[in-house]
Amino acid sequence: MRALDVIIAKRDGKRLTGEQIDWFITTYAAGAGIDDEQAAALAMAIYLNGMEPDELARWTTAMIESGERLDLSGLDRPTVDKHSTGGVGDKLSLVVAPLVAACGAAVPMLSGRGLGHTGGTLDKMEAIPGWRAEMTIDEMRDQLTRVGAVIAGASADLAPADRKLYALRDVTGTIESVPLIASSIMSKKLAEGTSALTLDVKVGSGAFMADVESARELATAMVSLGNSHGVATHALITRMDDVLGRAVGNALEVREALDVLDGGGPADVVEVSLALADEMLELVGLDADPGAVLASGAARSVFEEMVTGQGGDLSAGLPEATHRSVVDAPSAGFITRLDARGVGVAAWMLGAGRARKEDDVSPTAGVVCLARPGDEVESGQPVLELHTDDPATFEQASRSLEGAIGIAPEPGPPSPMVIDRISA
Ligand code: URA
Repeated sequence: MRALDVIIAKRDGKRLTGEQIDWFITTYAAGAGIDDEQAAALAMAIYLNGMEPDELARWTTAMIESGERLDLSGLDRPTVDKHSTGGVGDKLSLVVAPLVAACGAAVPMLSGRGLGHTGGTLDKMEAIPGWRAEMTIDEMRDQLTRVGAVIAGASADLAPADRKLYALRDVTGTIESVPLIASSIMSKKLAEGTSALTLDVKVGSGAFMADVESARELATAMVSLGNSHGVATHALITRMDDVLGRAVGNALEVREALDVLDGGGPADVVEVSLALADEMLELVGLDADPGAVLASGAARSVFEEMVTGQGGDLSAGLPEATHRSVVDAPSAGFITRLDARGVGVAAWMLGAGRARKEDDVSPTAGVVCLARPGDEVESGQPVLELHTDDPATFEQASRSLEGAIGIAPEPGPPSPMVIDRISA
């Protein structure tokens, strides 16, 4: 088989055969004769011409089979995971994993690091002194049995074809493609060994998917991939136009997640956490009330055990930035918008995110929303508080916030956080 023929077939809008897909993915992942430029050309042809559902299923299977598959069978609780397509201020995993574990399930959450303006769960957890992301499969099984939840880094052996292809897509303008995103996310999640999965597909200015129709298309593709691979899968489509909660940035988001686990925290974070937990429990047939479990403090105890199980020490306190600066309301009125992308980019500029995979992130940098959509403010009242250890970043961060605060004479209508649910 020749890579050129596969590229030309997709370039000309043809459906790839199963043999072509298996050969291309296996050979590329093994570094055995397909160059990066050929894989990039095929990714661009898929970006432009799409894939049929059966092609996408085969492509995803080939990506899973490029690496190892974890075996989490034999645990005494049902396994269920949650995955978010990425947002700004999205600390939901830190709440949902211990909450669903406290309700009786085992949550094996293999996560990634952030790239660009959306944060990564591992970066947030690493703001906790001593916490480590690396775990062996035996350590994971042990913690799932004892505590019920693990947040850990995905090993390089899980869907290695995706690791190579994702890095290539990142530099060739081929990230924003429904079949490529769906296969990338689902190959990693299906290789992780969970028996059920809830997807949080974010839509809005701070998300990959800017409009509800494309979010539905992505959610439907992922749900169908999950179910056809024997993993019970549902998706919620949730709003990501405004920052989720008040805090954006690694340690700042851990603090907010702890507030929620303590029974407080912003209403939108609580609402989406409970909606996701409900879906996860339904998928594995557990009849628990996540609202009552959250209020009981049981999820907070599970989170503490998850942290100490991985070397972390919450009693050491979370690190704080050395410098702060505020952004004021440009006029008086009601806040109607705190643009998620603008605030996400500002947090990134302040040091909370990375531009390249190998960059370090600051645990302390970020943005705190002192006022939220719906709040009434005076002209000049502080609305955003910027945190950093490097004050030279304030200027660029403030520039990315120009126009990010929407103010009107009347409050906007309340918008539901959960827009749709896709279950088949
Ligand atoms: N996250 C992934 O893992 N892959 C994508 O393609 C996009 C987001």
